[in-house]
Amino acid sequence: MSNYSIKHLEEYYQVYRKSIRDPENFWSEIAEEHFMWRKKWDNVLSWDFSKPEIKWFEGAKLNITENCIDRHLATKGEKTAILFEPNSPDEAAQHITYRRLYERVNQLANVLKDHGIEKGDRVCIYLPMIPELAISLLACARIGAVHSVVFAGFSSNALSTRINDSDCKMVITSDGSYRGAKTIDLKGIVDVALDECPSIKDVLVVNRINSDITMKEGRDKWLQPLLDAASTECAAEIMDAEDPLFILYTSGSTGMPKGMVHTTAGYMVYTAYTFKNVFQYKENDVYWCTADIGWITGHSYIVYGPLANGATTVMFEGVPSYPDFGRFWEVIAKHKINQFYTAPTAIRALAKQNIDFAETHDLSSLKVLGSVGEPINEEAWHWYNDVIGKKKSPIVDTWWQTETGGIMITPLPYVTPTKPTYATLPFPGIQPALMDENGEEIKGNQVDGRLCIKFPWPSMARTIWGNHQRYKETYFTAFKDKYFTGDGALRDEVGYYRITGRVDDVIIVSGHNLGTAPIEDAINEHPAVSESAVVGFPHDIKGNALYGYVILKETGESRIHDNVRKEINQIITEHIGPIAKLDKIQFTIGLPKTRSGKIMRRILRKIASRDMNNLGDTSTLLNPEVVQEIKDNVL
Ligand code: WTA
Repeated sequence: MSNYSIKHLEEYYQVYRKSIRDPENFWSEIAEEHFMWRKKWDNVLSWDFSKPEIKWFEGAKLNITENCIDRHLATKGEKTAILFEPNSPDEAAQHITYRRLYERVNQLANVLKDHGIEKGDRVCIYLPMIPELAISLLACARIGAVHSVVFAGFSSNALSTRINDSDCKMVITSDGSYRGAKTIDLKGIVDVALDECPSIKDVLVVNRINSDITMKEGRDKWLQPLLDAASTECAAEIMDAEDPLFILYTSGSTGMPKGMVHTTAGYMVYTAYTFKNVFQYKENDVYWCTADIGWITGHSYIVYGPLANGATTVMFEGVPSYPDFGRFWEVIAKHKINQFYTAPTAIRALAKQNIDFAETHDLSSLKVLGSVGEPINEEAWHWYNDVIGKKKSPIVDTWWQTETGGIMITPLPYVTPTKPTYATLPFPGIQPALMDENGEEIKGNQVDGRLCIKFPWPSMARTIWGNHQRYKETYFTAFKDKYFTGDGALRDEVGYYRITGRVDDVIIVSGHNLGTAPIEDAINEHPAVSESAVVGFPHDIKGNALYGYVILKETGESRIHDNVRKEINQIITEHIGPIAKLDKIQFTIGLPKTRSGKIMRRILRKIASRDMNNLGDTSTLLNPEVVQEIKDNVL
């Protein structure tokens, strides 16, 4: 028997050791006992990080939706699979049973097929957090289409870039979405995007807000009538283990977002096994992850991981501040949530509110609290632990990435003693390494370095869509034969890991990864701008906020700085989305550069953070004089 559910620390160490000593047997036992295969694999693992090429469960045949839905029908047909909590507390929650989910996924799968979607085709999903979003992912997976979800807060420009990068054939969207007291015109954003997207043949539109939208003849169709006419049976397409399941874009330090490609079998096994252990999910528990399915956390830990375990997973459409800052806590009390998984930025925002918002709700159902997306600071950790968990619900600070597909370093609740701000220990199968600048592994404890992973795990992304070379350069070139995460970390005296943050040009703002390059590209589109540099600086709630240094062109005409600031943020909103707006914009005469012309972001970061004393040696710069000017005018 494999140790599918780890119960105490000694067992964790045993399981971990086995997973390192004999990874192939370790993973094949789990895969064999806990999933439904149409055909078993011929080979558990083959890998070569120098190419890089990674294959798990090669030769196996399966469909992930049979694992997430069909196999539960006999025993859990009437159990709630998805519990939908709408934006407005006045609208009734919906309990979608496994049986109903089966029918609804099949209906949509049939509609996709009727529109010519076949195995391997890419379908773009641009939807708010409504049940149709999860159902769309599953319907694609049912017929072997590759889903590419674009977060429905992204702009039309960001949407069209992603659609074109992977040549999607179809978009599934809605007329609009609710966001607190506001509505957002999603279909309008799609319409603008599609002017630039020749590959899109059909647009299926969910009616969510009953708004008056334009439907383009021959391209756009309301989804509901098509679903009503479709059969509730649709045979699952039998997929190979390494067939792509989805593409999900993440920001890189340069230009284009990276379309991370996740494949079927390994992703399924790893997300299911981590879900079971990291949340210690028990049969009648109600689990809630507040992420949006537009991010990897939603893919792995709202949809696939929970459903593969036959869990009840909550989908929340709204925001933590609507109708007031008590909403999360009200929902926990209302649905008797047992596991609650959210982001440090939300915790910090809620911790700032009157404590009554939390204390007037019954939170006694909670057993496990999770955190993901960025380092959780000590203050937020304690507030979460004391006020929400009442010191009895362990916090799992889970470190992982879009690229890793599943949780990599994390405590297991009731198993691993927690330590504030530490993600603690590697999950079974994960072999972290800390590396120094010379590319050597730093052994022993009480050390810090760049975080790499030495050995493949089942849910790692296999490539970047259409650009394998970039995949190799970004993740497998900095350190030979290792996957480089882009994060720094330290290992304490007992071997616990603490993630210290990005070491590249990615900034995490409210848990969203933003590359500096695309933001700078957007700023530079402003006709008055000649050059710009964006850095992060610490922010109470968002973790980091964005600080832009902007050089204006010398055109002779005078510009009102505040207007330019507004226009720059407008351009950023159009190109990327409102999440990438700059909090502060400082106009400057120059940017500190090395003699080879590289902007010294380290100096700009320190100044933006008002950490002026430690700028290091600036005398070797090409233009040391600008440093003083920038310091004098810091905002
Ligand atoms: C950061 C989110 C510290 C990290 C699942 C990583 C974290 C990036 C944590 C990936 C954590 C995520 N502690 N930092 N618990 N979790 N990060 O791709 O910098 O949106 O590289 O995946 O978020 O963000 P992504």
